[in-house]
Amino acid sequence: MEIKNICCIGAGYVGGPSMAVIALKCPNIQVNVVDVNQTRIDRWNEKDLNKLPIYEPGLDNIISKCRGENLHFSCEVEKNISKADMIYISVNTPTKTEGLGAGQAIDLKWVEASARKISEFANGQTIVVEKSTLPVKTAQTIQEILNCSNKKKNNTKTFHVLSNPEFLAEGTAINDLLHPDRVLIGGNNEQAIQSLCEIYSNWIDKSKIITTNLWSAELSKLIANAFLAQRVSSINSVTAICEATGANIKDVSSAVGADKRIGKHFLNPGPGFGGSCFKKDILNLVYICNHYGLNEVSNYWQQIININHYQQKRITGLIISKLFGTISDKTIAIFGFAFKENTNDTRESPAISISLELLQEGAKLKIYDPKVSFEQIKKDLAPNNQTLSHPPKVNNWEFYNDLYDATINADAIVILNNCEEFKDLNWSKISKNMRLPSWVFDTKGFSNTTEAEKFDINIWSVGEG
Ligand SMILES: NC(=O)c1ccc[n+]([C@@H]2O[C@H](COP(=O)([O-])OP(=O)(O)OC[C@H]3O[C@@H](n4cnc5c(N)ncnc54)[C@H](O)[C@@H]3O)[C@@H](O)[C@H]2O)c1
Repeated sequence: MEIKNICCIGAGYVGGPSMAVIALKCPNIQVNVVDVNQTRIDRWNEKDLNKLPIYEPGLDNIISKCRGENLHFSCEVEKNISKADMIYISVNTPTKTEGLGAGQAIDLKWVEASARKISEFANGQTIVVEKSTLPVKTAQTIQEILNCSNKKKNNTKTFHVLSNPEFLAEGTAINDLLHPDRVLIGGNNEQAIQSLCEIYSNWIDKSKIITTNLWSAELSKLIANAFLAQRVSSINSVTAICEATGANIKDVSSAVGADKRIGKHFLNPGPGFGGSCFKKDILNLVYICNHYGLNEVSNYWQQIININHYQQKRITGLIISKLFGTISDKTIAIFGFAFKENTNDTRESPAISISLELLQEGAKLKIYDPKVSFEQIKKDLAPNNQTLSHPPKVNNWEFYNDLYDATINADAIVILNNCEEFKDLNWSKISKNMRLPSWVFDTKGFSNTTEAEKFDINIWSVGEG
């Protein structure tokens, strides 16, 4: 089946960039990205490319080439569904906050709402592609919902559901989409699988396109994220051992990673993983394991999340203890609020939980991140933020556009992501700004802190014993 018109439901961190790349590489396909969030769509249509709703290196360039040509952003969900031969579901799939499975299971209400719309408004033969990360067997639910329209209205619509999970990483999304390690397509209809393969083979070598059954594709995405998060928790657990024993995490990482069987990637220490995916996907895996009575397996994966939480608690405890056991009325500069460099995404960022702990303890925070807006931080640290387990007592923080200004009168600096600007800091200037005794807590081991020592600044760098 030749695909001429694609509709993607969900204009988020995955829907936006992945459709932009399809539009770029498949000029003969019209790509319509739709969303219920009018503000988000307005920002995708902004003339000023600095105002796009998400920041990804290289994204603005593609948008400027394709938008208005074969790439369109709108809130006209029904109309664009009705025109499409292929519909991607790329909506949010957060952890349920209430009801059965709360705190672990995925809330599928946005996926279900999308499937219902497709069922009602699609025409003829339609391929439905799961792009969202979903619990294994969701394709069955989607197929059942899609078939409803035929039962009720005696239609003759045909739907083939495929699973095509996305493996991009924020901050490198465009590069990951242009040069993926693999593309995974799960399905049970050969013709539908071939249609999707043909789209990707416009720019991806066929040897990198893996086809499986639906359940393997759905499960592989959860397992890939669980393995990545496992490496983060593993190396972070080793930072605690290094600090206790006098070993150095950088030496240990490079010695361990030199073994080809282990590999050197994803062995960098830090304040724990963030982002919208790792935690929710592992919680979902834990839930699925429990559902199938695999309690030991579920306990194993739960431990990855426990270590992540432990690392963040360990770091705040350490900051307080180094600052003489109290940070009440002390000023702490936070460098980096997004969960990683080169993104404006703060979802599940360790900076949120660490900032909240510091605020609870009475500190005043001066926050700097080159990609995150004041409005976003305000939402994340709002005392009435219902999603937080312990909202701050006070809103005692300020936002800075200049990182050096943020260090004026600070007792400490906490570096929380690998933003390029933090690599080579002017410690002479910073030392003059700070109050004595001054501390730098480099939770990524990324900054040129050995330089800082020359200016009588005390350093704690993660995993340095
Ligand atoms: N962010 C990542 O790095 C990443 C990577 C791989 C996979 N994923 C997965 O991709 C999915 C999407 O993630 P995201 O980060 O893009 O989420 P997001 O929250 O940035 O975007 C989802 C969008 O879907 C829209 N939406 C929800 N229901 C809708 C509906 N019924 N009709 C129209 N629009 C609707 C929302 O308004 C939102 O704009 C999730 O399942 C996630 O786990 C995310």
